[in-house]
Amino acid sequence: MHILFAASEAVPFIKTGGLADVVGELPQYLVKSGNKVSVVLPKYKSINSELLEDSKLVKYFDVYMNNAKLYAGIIHLFKDGINYYFVDNESFFYRDQIYGYDDDDSRFGFFCLSIMEMISHLKLDVDVIHANDWQTGPLAMLYYERYHQYPYYENIKWVFTIHNPAYQGLFDKNVVSRIFGLDMNLYHNGTLRFKDAFSFLKVGIVYANKITTVSPTHAKELLEPEYAHGLENVIRLRSQDLVGILNGIDYKKYNPLTDSKIGVNYRNSYRKKLLNKKALQEQCHFKVDENIPLVAIVSRLTWQKGIDLIVPNIENLINKGIQLIVLGSGDKQYEDDLRYFANKFPQSVYAYIGFSDELAHQIYAGTDILLMPSLFEPCGISQMIALRYGTIPLVRETGGLSDTVIPYNEYTGEGNGFSFRNFDYKDLSIVLDYALKQYNNKDVWNLLFKNALKSNYSWNQSSKKYLELYKSL
Ligand code: GLC
Repeated sequence: MHILFAASEAVPFIKTGGLADVVGELPQYLVKSGNKVSVVLPKYKSINSELLEDSKLVKYFDVYMNNAKLYAGIIHLFKDGINYYFVDNESFFYRDQIYGYDDDDSRFGFFCLSIMEMISHLKLDVDVIHANDWQTGPLAMLYYERYHQYPYYENIKWVFTIHNPAYQGLFDKNVVSRIFGLDMNLYHNGTLRFKDAFSFLKVGIVYANKITTVSPTHAKELLEPEYAHGLENVIRLRSQDLVGILNGIDYKKYNPLTDSKIGVNYRNSYRKKLLNKKALQEQCHFKVDENIPLVAIVSRLTWQKGIDLIVPNIENLINKGIQLIVLGSGDKQYEDDLRYFANKFPQSVYAYIGFSDELAHQIYAGTDILLMPSLFEPCGISQMIALRYGTIPLVRETGGLSDTVIPYNEYTGEGNGFSFRNFDYKDLSIVLDYALKQYNNKDVWNLLFKNALKSNYSWNQSSKKYLELYKSL
């Protein structure tokens, strides 16, 4: 089977969020099970050119859009068994950021049109196209409204994955004809209309053969207004075709036994993990003391991630006697606030604003508790990485966090973490106090450490579920 992934980001080329991890990793597992896999991305300025050293331009053609004839180049790279295609047009993609421009409708509309054109220009024999999030939502719409009866397009099946329903790609209705060359009737009769605009995300949901999201709990949440951000009615109409498949993490990249980014490798030894904690406390200029709970946040700093529960309460948190490390970037206000608190309380708060893969690994290895109080979390990746390193997640019960973090039960000894339900600081604080009480009982904490290491969220299982889904189409 030939599966083509279409997305706006994928590791190792370009990443702003978890979407990049999924599109970077899932294809590798599908290749391993004997499938042909291709991935198509925009050719952004910020892709490290060393990664593209062996790539070459294989085709160029015109794309008609905005009343103009626009250049589209297709650059091909074969790497680790996967065909990567990069859509090149410097006026759209040679910019400092990858999202957030006034013409994002044209930029990603162009990306979608170029992918559709590429299929016949390269005579790609694809069975399934797996599109992801709003940037690639219109692909299936273009297929069913414009391309499906032409040679090279017959019998393509469509999967669309919602990684984040809060980003809906909402643009003026004129996109329908101006960019996609479709009849405005499709808008006026409601098919393409959403909130009196055109939504890239909504059309992905309407036209795909199957819709997935990244955890079973989030698949249920998407039927409710609280989580579907206005899309609940559209999604309910397609609920028969909606499935939740949990993301995995890369068990080779995140392996405490072989990880070269951490000081001391370990498998089941809690003592060795504590040596990583010591190194981290030194690095942060904290007091080095294995009995002080070291708590981490590794996250994009945005409202979705529950940073609102942390920043205003930071003094209360550190008064519980913890040391707090934050790694991430995002909204400027949160970044400034965290820098301020790190300056004010250098013995208890350390903030690295930005991203460092090396420090991320050291945090997963060296901390005791990972905090993830997300307002919503379709899957979440950090909590699964934390578990892999025996770091105990404390999460809000939502989406993939509910599916991966099983609250500790002091009567049965089961569980690999802690969780709270209501999105407020009081609940978080009560559960953190409870976790810290368990932390002081070394037998309990050892048990939690072992339970965490036993949790298994690798791509092996998840990629099998995707394959079954593709085959069922
Ligand atoms: C989005 C979601 C996150 C998920 C990721 C990958 O970033 O917010 O929960 O893990 O996509 O699917």
